[in-house]
Amino acid sequence: MSKTKEHFSSRIGFILAAAGSAVGIGNLVGFPVNAAKNGGGAFLLVYALFIFIICLPIMIAEMAVGRKTGKQPVGAYKNLSNNNKLWGAAGFIGVLTPFMIAVFYMVITVWLFGYLALTVTGNLDYLASEQGFSEFINSPYLFAVMAIVASMIHFILVAGVKDGIEKAAKVLMPALFIMLILMVIFVLTLDNAMAGVKFFIIPDFNKITPSVINSALSQAFFSLSLGMGILITYGSYINRDTNITNSAKLVAITDTAVAFTAGLMILPAVFSFDPTLNPDDLSASSVSLIFTFLPKIFLALQVSLGYFGASAVAAFFFLLVFFAAITSLVSIIEVPVSYLITEKCQTRKKALSTLLMTAGVLTIFATLSFGMVSFFTEFLDYADKTNSFFDVIYDIFYDTILPLNGFLLCIFVTYRWKKHNLSKELSIGNEGYMGSWVEKYVNFSLSTFIPVIVLGIFLNTVAQKFFGFSLLGF
Ligand code: PHE
Repeated sequence: MSKTKEHFSSRIGFILAAAGSAVGIGNLVGFPVNAAKNGGGAFLLVYALFIFIICLPIMIAEMAVGRKTGKQPVGAYKNLSNNNKLWGAAGFIGVLTPFMIAVFYMVITVWLFGYLALTVTGNLDYLASEQGFSEFINSPYLFAVMAIVASMIHFILVAGVKDGIEKAAKVLMPALFIMLILMVIFVLTLDNAMAGVKFFIIPDFNKITPSVINSALSQAFFSLSLGMGILITYGSYINRDTNITNSAKLVAITDTAVAFTAGLMILPAVFSFDPTLNPDDLSASSVSLIFTFLPKIFLALQVSLGYFGASAVAAFFFLLVFFAAITSLVSIIEVPVSYLITEKCQTRKKALSTLLMTAGVLTIFATLSFGMVSFFTEFLDYADKTNSFFDVIYDIFYDTILPLNGFLLCIFVTYRWKKHNLSKELSIGNEGYMGSWVEKYVNFSLSTFIPVIVLGIFLNTVAQKFFGFSLLGF
């Protein structure tokens, strides 16, 4: 076991790493599309409220549990519950979830890198063609790309917390912010860009229905990387003089700001491509938007920029999303890595190879499930359709289980570990915390309405996803 526990070297290093985890495909594509379809500015308002009223206390609690115990979810839950078996099991779900999400996220990150490589080598027209995406996802070259992406992850994670995760975040995150701003400036100069901006920010409160509220909350939860064990694990690497509540606030603000700014990039681009577009027709899935719709938009730029210029803009965009994906992927793989190091006494190197190997095999299965092998393509039937191996992982771990993990965390922190212990931990590095309204709010919300709401979302998602009906009647 590693004797000296690693830590982030500075508060800003920690904030960038946590923001690196939070800022991902969800911010860059998922949020803008959701907002445009569901009421624009009104959705943004509801979303921002959820971030601060519901998600922030959970984020703070995750970080506190991590720092208190110095462990990932399994160790943390065991540690604070006197080795209670049931809580240990809850912690185990907290490590299994990120492991499985890593598999699914790896597939997408590999695609992103493949798109980047193809665009740089002059194949944007192919990616924008009708058969482009479906051929691409069944190409044997993907396995070579997978090896490259896995080596990058290995390179970052093997260097450890300070020299790997933190350093990568310190380079990639500022680069991402700059690229995003440049891209927004460019997109806003396109014809009809303002139509997209209008759609994005003009509020339409009539569109805020119960199902929109449900999706805003799920989006907020997932965007902050909650329920994935990440913030517990990253929390275990923060110094005792760090002010957790303020750091969490900064991470939430950064994440929301990036999501908002991304809206100013995606929607004007979409509208300048097709000014008559009805946002309701935009595909719900970020995946199909990135991989099938956006290449067409980029290719259309060749009229004014030439093929080379259009490819350069596309490459710039894919690089931006790739950076966001890599920092998220690193954070999610760090959870099981940390588990193997602290619980199974493996060295970081050994833990990484064990993981990249096991997750790698599952990633190969998931990659084969888009048509290459029918066993994986037609893996399981539920909710009246046949689902691929990739779909099953996505549905269970990405779309469903996160609120359950959030629920368990709330109950654990407030009723098992107890509120006064949480307050004690949070007052370290934050002298005025005890007795403040923030303390009162965190303790009250985490023990009352937050667990009720996240449990409700969990149950409703299970009903909708797997049994094809809605508990809330929408
Ligand atoms: N928060 C990320 C996003 O918004 C999601 C994510 C983080 C997914 C970490 C996997 C791992 O896209």
